[in-house]
Amino acid sequence: MTQKHAAHDWDERYADSETYVFGTQPSPSLVAYRDRLTPGMTAISVADGEGRNGVWLAECGLDVLTLDWSERGLAKARALATQRGVTLHTKCVDILTWDWPTAAFDVAAALNFHFPPAERDALFAKIKTSLKPGGLLIFEGLHTRNRDHHDPATLFDEARVATIMHGLTVETITICDDPDSGKTHISALGIKP
Ligand SMILES: C[S@@+](CC[C@H](N)C(=O)[O-])C[C@H]1O[C@@H](n2cnc3c(N)ncnc32)[C@H](O)[C@@H]1O
Repeated sequence: MTQKHAAHDWDERYADSETYVFGTQPSPSLVAYRDRLTPGMTAISVADGEGRNGVWLAECGLDVLTLDWSERGLAKARALATQRGVTLHTKCVDILTWDWPTAAFDVAAALNFHFPPAERDALFAKIKTSLKPGGLLIFEGLHTRNRDHHDPATLFDEARVATIMHGLTVETITICDDPDSGKTHISALGIKP
């Protein structure tokens, strides 16, 4: 599948303007770090889809740039921001090839995207480069325990989380079973020295 087709698939998934595929509430893995966030911080919300996490960060007073390659998802993210009375900056880009800035953000929210190992490691290296010293990487992904259509190589266990967090001080790694979805997520907080 070409990149263009893959982005188009997400546009189709997000086509219904009334229904938010992943809901409009932020991930609990992000909310868990509420006390680490202060108004005026800069944040990047990576592959933010329809914006549930980026909008929540903006509601916490952060200056948020949301990235995704689905223009449809980003339009819904902007609509959600307007509804909540906050500003959300959005960019429609392929996060694997985007020209990432250096030392630009206090917070990177990297939740629920899954790539093969080489692409994943290269992407997280860029995400970490984009953090300022002292910046936070808030991560969530599907655990390798999940037995569904995902390619297991793209999922996460503790060792893979340690790899993507390499060079950061890892404060927490949490594994969480969601009884509603039946999925197991792994989340973590890393701090750039
Ligand atoms: C499972 S959704 C997660 C959305 C959001 N992070 C959340 O937790 O609700 C994965 C998102 O990754 C985006 N995505 C996947 N590959 C991408 C790429 N190469 N560049 C930009 N966005 C990408 C998709 O468009 C989709 O919105």
